[in-house]
Amino acid sequence: MIPGPEIRITAGERVRHRLVNDLPQPTAVHWHGIRIENAMDGAAPLTQAAVPPGGTFDYDFVAPDPGTYWYHSHDRGFEQVARGLAGPLIVDDRAPWLGEQGAATRELTLVLDDWLLDADAAIVEDRWDDLHSAAHDGRMCNTVTVNGSAYPELHMQPGERVRLRLMNTATARILALALPGLSPHLIALDGHPVPPRAVETILLGPAQRADVVIDMPLAADAPTALLLDPGNGEWVDVAAFVATGEPLAPVEDDVRPLPGWGTLSAPNLSDPQREVLLMEGGAMRGMSEAVYRGETMDFRELASNGMVWAFNGVAHGMDAPMFRAALGRTVHLEMTNRSVFPHAIHLHGHHFEVLARSGALNTPGDVRDTVLIGADETLEIAFVADNPGQWMLHCHMLSHQKAGMMGWFEVA
Ligand code: C2O
Ligand code: CU
Repeated sequence: MIPGPEIRITAGERVRHRLVNDLPQPTAVHWHGIRIENAMDGAAPLTQAAVPPGGTFDYDFVAPDPGTYWYHSHDRGFEQVARGLAGPLIVDDRAPWLGEQGAATRELTLVLDDWLLDADAAIVEDRWDDLHSAAHDGRMCNTVTVNGSAYPELHMQPGERVRLRLMNTATARILALALPGLSPHLIALDGHPVPPRAVETILLGPAQRADVVIDMPLAADAPTALLLDPGNGEWVDVAAFVATGEPLAPVEDDVRPLPGWGTLSAPNLSDPQREVLLMEGGAMRGMSEAVYRGETMDFRELASNGMVWAFNGVAHGMDAPMFRAALGRTVHLEMTNRSVFPHAIHLHGHHFEVLARSGALNTPGDVRDTVLIGADETLEIAFVADNPGQWMLHCHMLSHQKAGMMGWFEVA
């Protein structure tokens, strides 16, 4: 199935799934955004060896926090995720929300993806690790789908209030979305609740999620749809909301906030451990040199090894952690993007707060697991390093990850 089947549990419950690798190449499954036990993170080769063809691996973990998450392949992700190895993982809150006053009465999971298709709608096969696209904005595709369909019709009753769980499983495209005429209110980002706020556009970088409440009008002046800006300012439909069935009395109440997690420690910013993450490389800017596999190389030599990006002067730094944090310590991470491309930086095993210096693509105070950083921006995040283990930190534009934007940190 594309996307993969929805896994749904209640916060605090266990997820148990056996991975059976029927692929012709190794694989592993990462449970994106779950503050998971390290051994179950699926971050091959750091937390487990990739499962060979014909092999199996038993995943068994507790999902502590309610929200909208996803699972995806974590080996050759630039190919395997692009081929569709991804699906939604929904963690329900123990406390009721749906059906309560001001809340939605129904919810819809909308998995957004981007496919590079030829004229016969077949996947373009020959550009998986193309270094040219890796040095630009990644493997940008040409067909955006919602739950695996192009332009699906989603049915809503007039007057109905619905919670959308939007997720971007594309490997490169940043989705700029709008829901005109549906009074969209943001209620969660990357699974973590935000105080409800009206939004005009929703920017979802690769791997990011947004929960949005919409109200279907009783009578619409124009057809209602989920719109996407493909990058030229011309908004196009990616899904239609079609009014069907009996009208309901519209909900007049303000959008009800989601219950708080109650499980995330607030960062202590009085004396944090300060770390930096400098991103360099890519077309138009490049980098004079970087270390790859222990050797200092110039840009040409790096490129001949498939590397065009570096974190703190190291390309694909898997040999040593970028930093180590003592268990329970607050880490303050200053990220600087010296390239001309935006990036979507994901930290495994933790959620972090976006601080006041948040760049143009973020709102200070939001708590996320993946953050967009624009060209030439600097932004600051903080988190409590309270999950022991070795955690990957990488760009979720998966050809950037493959071409050097990859590292890890250790909590002990
Ligand atoms: Cu969703 Cu290491 O990634
Ligand atoms: Cu990137």
